[in-house]
Amino acid sequence: MLEDIFQSPTSVSLFGVFVALLLLHLLHSTFSSQKRPEPPGPRPLPVFGNLFQVDLKRLDQSLFNLSKTYGPVFQVYFGPKKVVVLAGYRTVKEALLNQADEFGNREITPIFYDFSEGHGIVFSNGDSWKEMRRFALSTLKDFGMGRKMSEEIIIEECGYLIKEMEQYGGESFNNTQAISYTASNVISALMFAKRFEYKDPVFQSMVEKDKQNIHLAGSASIMIYNFIPWLGPLLKNRRTMLKNFIDGRADIWRKIEELKETLDPEVCRCLVDAFLIRKKQLEDSKIKNSHYHDNNLLYSIQGLFVAGTDTTATTLKWGLLYLTKFPHIQDRIQEKLSRVVGSCQVRIEDRKNLPYTDAVIHETQRFANIGPLALPHTTTKDVTLQGYFIKKGTTVLTVLTSVLYDENEWESPHSFNPSHFLDDEGKFIRRDAFMPFSAGTLLDLGISL
Ligand code: HEM
Repeated sequence: MLEDIFQSPTSVSLFGVFVALLLLHLLHSTFSSQKRPEPPGPRPLPVFGNLFQVDLKRLDQSLFNLSKTYGPVFQVYFGPKKVVVLAGYRTVKEALLNQADEFGNREITPIFYDFSEGHGIVFSNGDSWKEMRRFALSTLKDFGMGRKMSEEIIIEECGYLIKEMEQYGGESFNNTQAISYTASNVISALMFAKRFEYKDPVFQSMVEKDKQNIHLAGSASIMIYNFIPWLGPLLKNRRTMLKNFIDGRADIWRKIEELKETLDPEVCRCLVDAFLIRKKQLEDSKIKNSHYHDNNLLYSIQGLFVAGTDTTATTLKWGLLYLTKFPHIQDRIQEKLSRVVGSCQVRIEDRKNLPYTDAVIHETQRFANIGPLALPHTTTKDVTLQGYFIKKGTTVLTVLTSVLYDENEWESPHSFNPSHFLDDEGKFIRRDAFMPFSAGTLLDLGISL
């Protein structure tokens, strides 16, 4: 009968070999998965996976809660997609720091792919990502990110923010926009050697659209799109995000064009100039297929804007809120500032003499926990973590909430307590579980800023 189906004896024997290979493969996978068990997790339903067991609106908290049942390494299914979740400082450290290469790929979800098409820094991988990340880090270091030059930029921009706030003559007002513009202008000065007026409508719309996109990226419908991409065209949030991406890209490209027109290879004014000069050098040396092309320039700059503006602004806003909520902490900071700095401009070099202020800033970042799931990673190869087998290419989520609120690491994880970062003598101390910027290969690039 088989010969009837396949119409020749050769096809039958090929079919026999195929079946034998399939059986061998199945036996091998069963055997190896028995030897190396996969992480535990709630039982998934067909099609929906574990979608009914997680709260997509507060995913970090809900995964943190599941880790209390299934342990620090577990898996959940978002629809058909399997994701391995890592919780708690010890586990996140073991994966992101001790096995940094294995856990060091970026997961480029469908919405991130829409955004970057695999170019730039934030949503790329491989040699292109490596080159762009190295380029951005070294150029921003040349521009004094975390040092003198960026300090001047920040001080200048603070002047504009203070002026903006003083307009209200002590009355209450909504500071949201002004703080976002301040943060964005600091990034803009590094990228374009230019700041924008807070009233500039193009600038306002750029900042607003990036903010809206960050908000929408965490919405339930975009998460569902990432797991079930064919739903994309039906989702309003995705259409809004795409429009914002495209508009933002056009605004950034216009700025790049302006810099191209006035480029002087002898005078490097900003990150865009540094890129254009490097690109020209490579072209002059007839080096083809380099990573220095327009797409990498455009998406790297856009990525730095999006990654740097809202994170910084949101952290500053939480800082102000905590100082309002805990006036005794505000008074203590003011008292130290008056004693150490007096009426002078506060500078980075004062930091070593302001351990309490430093501790409040760190505690603000810990407690505000603004990137509770970092960004998703994937494994670069088959890997074993705490005895569990995780296949190459598996999506991995690190629950930073579970690190910043780890009860084994922090004396009072659920209260705002600057003493977490002070020793008995009031000196500032670093804490290993302080990971708001994540850790390892994909560690936040703006950390020193
Ligand atoms: C308080 C401020 C900030 C926080 C809390 C923060 C946090 C983070 C986190 C959690 C990640 C994901 C890391 C991972 O996947 O494991 C990240 C990535 C990144 N951040 Fe930040 N960030 C901040 C400010 C900035 C600034 C100011 C910039 C730019 C100047 C920036 C640029 C980036 C970039 C480019 C990445 C992607 C790194 C890569 O994939 O290689 N961030 N950040």
